[in-house]
Amino acid sequence: MLELKNISFQVDAEGQDKEIIRNVSLTVPDRKLIVITGPNGGGKSTLAKLIAGIEKPTGGRIFFGGEDITEKNVTERARMGISYAFQQPVRFKGIRVLDLIRIAAGKALTIADACEYLSSVGLCARDYVDREVNASLSGGELKRIEIATVLARHAKLSVFDEPEAGIDLWSFRNLIDVFQHMRETIADSSILIISHQERILNIADEIIVVKDGVVDRQGSREEIAPTLHTGMAAIATAECEGHIRAMGREGGAV
Ligand SMILES: Nc1ncnc2c1ncn2[C@@H]1O[C@H](COP(=O)(O)OP(=O)(O)OP(=O)(O)O)[C@@H](O)[C@H]1O
Ligand SMILES: [Mg+2]
Repeated sequence: MLELKNISFQVDAEGQDKEIIRNVSLTVPDRKLIVITGPNGGGKSTLAKLIAGIEKPTGGRIFFGGEDITEKNVTERARMGISYAFQQPVRFKGIRVLDLIRIAAGKALTIADACEYLSSVGLCARDYVDREVNASLSGGELKRIEIATVLARHAKLSVFDEPEAGIDLWSFRNLIDVFQHMRETIADSSILIISHQERILNIADEIIVVKDGVVDRQGSREEIAPTLHTGMAAIATAECEGHIRAMGREGGAV
């Protein structure tokens, strides 16, 4: 189980303090698939980076399996069983796809085993196992390879940041099946997916809406999903109308 207690994250943006995450508390229980959603710039990826240890919170504590991991770095957290797939994955020049999947699995996988992970994300495995993870891979290919490495990890907590981004529709359908299979076989582990996609929201046990650096609302899928589309559109429209009115008062052109 992962627990965030009163997490804040502040950065120095052009000489001014900017609080990106404000006093966020949330729990990812074992055997659950949790989806975090919310508007662009709300702080979702920052939260994922704080969980993975890529960023350190400026306030609050993070617990994993009851242990305080706030001071642990990304490698230590990975060893403890936290696996993270970036919204924009990084490339590894000089490393083959096969090596990357073997490193992720932490054991001597056969080529057939590695290929199975690649196939599950819609890649024709034999075309990819020997490819280098460099700039010659397209964005969607890279994204799918990274998801395959997280699947190979079989981590206690798997975090996927917008797994749908840049992925074609056919592979996306496949991916939903993969997540659903993961969901059915998660045993003592849990899955955290950041997503805007209705089909991913549809397989969540719980949905957390993060907006303006805070948890706006959270609850079961049944409770939260119906509030999402109309809710988001209404908020965006209200904010936009307020803006336009303010501009009108200032005499600016709209
Ligand atoms: N190091 C930083 N310095 C200044 N601002 C930052 C920094 N990192 C993130 N931000 C800002 O914090 C906010 C939250 O960013 P974040 O990437 O977490 O959003 P997000 O919810 O993942 O958005 P999206 O849905 O577009 O992926 C954004 O306004 C972003 O510009
Ligand atoms: Mg993001």
